[in-house]
Amino acid sequence: MNIQQLLTQLETTHQATPAGIEYLLANEAEQDLLFAAAERVRRNYVGNSVQLRAVIEFSNYCKCRCVYCGINFGNDKLPKFRLTKEQILSAADSAAKAGYKTFVLQSGEDESYTKEYLAEIIAEITQKYGDTAITLSVGERPYSHYEAWFKAGAKRFLLKHEIGNAELYKKLHHGDLLSDRLQAARNLMQIGYQTGSGILIGLPEQTLADIAADILFLQNYNFNMISIGVFISGPGTPLAGHPNGDVGLTKRAMALARLLCPKALIPATSALLSLLPSPEQAMDCGANVLMQKAEPANYENLYALYPRKSDELSIAERRAKVTTMLAALGRTVSETQGNYGEELK
Ligand code: 5AD
Repeated sequence: MNIQQLLTQLETTHQATPAGIEYLLANEAEQDLLFAAAERVRRNYVGNSVQLRAVIEFSNYCKCRCVYCGINFGNDKLPKFRLTKEQILSAADSAAKAGYKTFVLQSGEDESYTKEYLAEIIAEITQKYGDTAITLSVGERPYSHYEAWFKAGAKRFLLKHEIGNAELYKKLHHGDLLSDRLQAARNLMQIGYQTGSGILIGLPEQTLADIAADILFLQNYNFNMISIGVFISGPGTPLAGHPNGDVGLTKRAMALARLLCPKALIPATSALLSLLPSPEQAMDCGANVLMQKAEPANYENLYALYPRKSDELSIAERRAKVTTMLAALGRTVSETQGNYGEELK
């Protein structure tokens, strides 16, 4: 089968074999054909609108020791911060005023935000901004916590596993188990969350076969949100000095995720954007979501998962800038919450 036949099959059936996926992941020379196919599927299934998410990164305390991550427990060089309920509400208020219809509450795995305290924060946001969706991204917690937060008003959850090779997962996550991660994801789905997962491209020892298997896994699990990030090496991590992940490979993996999961919400990740000369270059391979930082400016640089520069803009200015960038591409900014499966406008 040549690339055209393979892409036609993908575009019409949204099915592929591991070998077919690996072939397309490796095919840099003809990646433009893959990107064009992913863009056609993106337009047909989720339209031209881009979902903007305001991300409130509220704590960089984390009990985990993920070797790639700048806020890992062992990094004692990074000053730590936690936002109070009032600070989180104030960030949400600025984002709501700027027009955002989704808040992503993201933090390290920080148990000082108890089941009750986070439920209280979620309930208060829900009460104040009823037309705004809340996505949580706070890691693994017991079923009862997830359930309490769902009842309080959070209806979406991001819990990426980053790599689905169980051996490598354990190695990169200081002995933590992939099976625990996946059980937590199943719990979220069972409770009724729109659930997101995702992987990082460029982790040490990761092969194309691993990535192909992960893309099929993300499809088989029917995740609503699929994030394909790119590894960026950062100081204060055991992987400092390692090469960053490959941008082209990351985009090919995004395009394949779009072809296999046509209705998914797929972000152009902040990590990918930070490695590209211009943001437009992340919008030609199937993505329909962009995330923007919304915490108070003085904390932005402390949520340092990987090195990146702040643009020193307010959340409202960020929205205006991205709207202009997208308009030049013929894309619009969604005015809706952008829930999975709804008509996305
Ligand atoms: N490079 C790129 N992305 C990273 N993340 C964590 N560490 C890194 C890194 N070194 C991503 C993970 C996490 C998200 C919030 O940030 O995918 O889920």
